[in-house]
Amino acid sequence: MRTDRVRLGRLSGERKGEIMTFLSSMHADRCIADADVLVDLAHVLMLDNQKIIDREITRKLLPALLKLFDEGVPDEVFDDRFEDVHAGIEAFLIESVGVDAGGRMHMGRSRNDEVATCIRIRLREELLGQMSALLRVREVLVTIAGLHTGTAMPGFTHMQHAQPTTLAHYLLSYEGAFSRDFDRLRDAYVRVNRSPLGSAAFASTGYPVNREFTAALLGFDGLVINSMDAVAARDFALEILADFSILMATVSRLCEDLIFWSTSFVKFVSLDDAFCSTSSIMPQKKNPDTAEIMRAKSGSVFGAFAGAIMTVKGLPMSYNRDLQELTPHLWRGTRDVTVSLRLLTDMLSSATFDPERMKEEAGKGFSTATELADTLVRNYGLPFRTAHNIVGRAVQKGNLSLATLEESAQEVGGGISLLKKGLTQKNIDDVLDVNFSISVRGAPGGPAPSSVKIALEDTKKQIGKDSAYIDHRVVKLKNANEELIKKARELVA
Ligand code: ARG
Repeated sequence: MRTDRVRLGRLSGERKGEIMTFLSSMHADRCIADADVLVDLAHVLMLDNQKIIDREITRKLLPALLKLFDEGVPDEVFDDRFEDVHAGIEAFLIESVGVDAGGRMHMGRSRNDEVATCIRIRLREELLGQMSALLRVREVLVTIAGLHTGTAMPGFTHMQHAQPTTLAHYLLSYEGAFSRDFDRLRDAYVRVNRSPLGSAAFASTGYPVNREFTAALLGFDGLVINSMDAVAARDFALEILADFSILMATVSRLCEDLIFWSTSFVKFVSLDDAFCSTSSIMPQKKNPDTAEIMRAKSGSVFGAFAGAIMTVKGLPMSYNRDLQELTPHLWRGTRDVTVSLRLLTDMLSSATFDPERMKEEAGKGFSTATELADTLVRNYGLPFRTAHNIVGRAVQKGNLSLATLEESAQEVGGGISLLKKGLTQKNIDDVLDVNFSISVRGAPGGPAPSSVKIALEDTKKQIGKDSAYIDHRVVKLKNANEELIKKARELVA
């Protein structure tokens, strides 16, 4: 069994059992193993370029690293005996090519800048994947909305029937929230995509390293310039976890709606059986378990954020081993968000909405009363508060007939006669119509089909732009990666 070469000089004895697993980050390091190989390749190319190592050393190191790149990091590297994947890979290299070459790879760097670089590399990949997944969710919302600009449904405040709206308007409200989540991730990406490499333990190094060189090879847009900041900072991870938390708060609200909407009280939606479970005792049950788990996953993601921010609170400058404990929170949050977004897309696109049931509810609970009050203002010149009081009193009396409104006007309208002003039952019936109430709400962002159609077009354009942004980022990373491997292979050939 390979030994942990890092410990060999300074410390006596191998660590065993619990202490070994306690200290090791191997489990979480599986997420960064591939990134570590890229970092090693870039670092060796830089050492060679700067003539810090001889070409003959480069020619020994690169083939071994390229083998790891081509075949993947072997299981034996992930042994808890090593504190982490960085030590594991170094030991593997020393064993493959001998200490004279393998023992030179770690010149001018530390695991501190190495791990920070690896996390950023993996994270930016994850972010691009999540931004794409978020785009899929937004696209599905827009697609369904496009079919339902005329589907009236009740809108709720305080969970009470409030005013009629449309299913399209409702779905676009979530799209709006998700598009801001997208923006947040895109902004965070810019801060993630900076290279800490070359900062070494924290005080940089006396070797003539070229930090820009490795940053470019690894596809970074620049450096985290201060070497102490570069190894100590995890705010980029906190920022992402905060963004994930905000995103998942919205996901959980949407899930809550879907859960409520699938009850037999509401029945606005039927989720595909694939996303539901049944009861082990009640044979009739169809439960929206996927939406429930997703609602709960938001809590797990908030927990990941809380765990991460607690880890850095009060840590002195610069690197402290505590930081190792933060990383698993990041991957846990990342995984929960990724899966949730994918399943949410499928759950929405396979759901069956029930326009008839929505229509049935749209006008309930005097939901068009606002429009009646507005009509009293518009057509008969009443102050809004007076009109509001009159209609409110009529609702209290139980109906919005002409007679009841007239009576209410006497009571709370300062003796105004609506009859004398010319109000008829037909006027009332016309403005209490659900579709009328929706159609007049044509201000930008309102539920009127004319407004929603404009919103749909604008949204589609924005999704197109956001999609192009991701493509551009993906291509940039892919090109950098190919260039790095090409350079390494050329030096070996
Ligand atoms: N495994 C560590 C981490 O995840 C990186 C190694 C730094 N170790 C150290 N003793 N300075 O943060």
